[in-house]
Amino acid sequence: MTTPATTPHRSPADSPGLPRARGPLSGSVLAALAGGGTRLPETGAVRASDPYGDDLQLLLYVLYELHYRGFAGVDERLEWDPALLGVRAAAEDVFLDALRRDSGPGGNDVAEAVDALQLEPVGDDGHSVSHHLQREGELWQLREYAAVRSLYHLKEADPHLWVVPRLRGRAKAAMVAVEFDEFGAGRAEDIHAQLFADLMTDLGLDARYGRYLDAAPAQALATVNLMSLFGLHRRLRGALVGHFATVEITSPPGSRRLAEALRRVGAGVDAQRFYDEHVEADAVHEQVVRHEVIGGLLEDEPGLAADVVLGIEATGHLEDLLGDHLLAAWRDGHTALRTHPHP
Ligand SMILES: [Fe+2]
Ligand SMILES: [Fe+2]
Repeated sequence: MTTPATTPHRSPADSPGLPRARGPLSGSVLAALAGGGTRLPETGAVRASDPYGDDLQLLLYVLYELHYRGFAGVDERLEWDPALLGVRAAAEDVFLDALRRDSGPGGNDVAEAVDALQLEPVGDDGHSVSHHLQREGELWQLREYAAVRSLYHLKEADPHLWVVPRLRGRAKAAMVAVEFDEFGAGRAEDIHAQLFADLMTDLGLDARYGRYLDAAPAQALATVNLMSLFGLHRRLRGALVGHFATVEITSPPGSRRLAEALRRVGAGVDAQRFYDEHVEADAVHEQVVRHEVIGGLLEDEPGLAADVVLGIEATGHLEDLLGDHLLAAWRDGHTALRTHPHP
């Protein structure tokens, strides 16, 4: 990789620090980002790694994070370092191959895939995480859930914005209309990521960006890596739209259950507001996304139907893996986090 030779371009000091390594692959990438390592992982070693495992998912996560806020002290030019991008491409191939293999039947019937979401939201067989939390979730489980989800919600809607230059007409106008709401419709205090930070503070969590990266299990990293993967690659614009549709369509029922769970354990108004807001807003968003974003995209580019289905199925698949992990840990009465039993 190139060694930054001239004036360093450091990320802002309030950016999160680099996380701890989770294996040899993430370890050598983290050493390179810290400026103390020059040996990047061999492509063969990346290809041989577990696509859903901690090491590969953390490697992807830290390389993607260079496109969001970076890490304190890490040279900002490494975002476009050719050698790091090469490692990332190998890891993306491993992840995407696994998603294509494991996510579902595939095909190109978008209407059927969307109907399935509306009839039976992802993981919603009565035993989903939100069902559990609604019925019998304890406060410590809700705090763990918020800590794990913070990786996603504190960058909520950010990766979906990357698709905008790749859309046209109806799809573009509708996508931006939904994103306008996600970003607070002109009010900083209403940005959905800010509403989630308020929820975290209400629950006694540390709401700083990236604070729970070390604590998050691989399954949680994978859900965030998925939207970064789809968002950063123009060729995967159909899958990004499928991901966005899944999030918006499955949000109202899940958010309703989570708002109830927070009320039941006596959480404050700020904690409830994030999910209450999503019950309201996403009831509108799901219609706009279905008819205008997906409808408009497929009118322009009917050949992307299979990618939209991939985006829907891959999102459901990774949500299922995360839900299984959380519920298994909680059923046994222990933490679902990797570090620090209670955030
Ligand atoms: Fe939102
Ligand atoms: Fe939304």
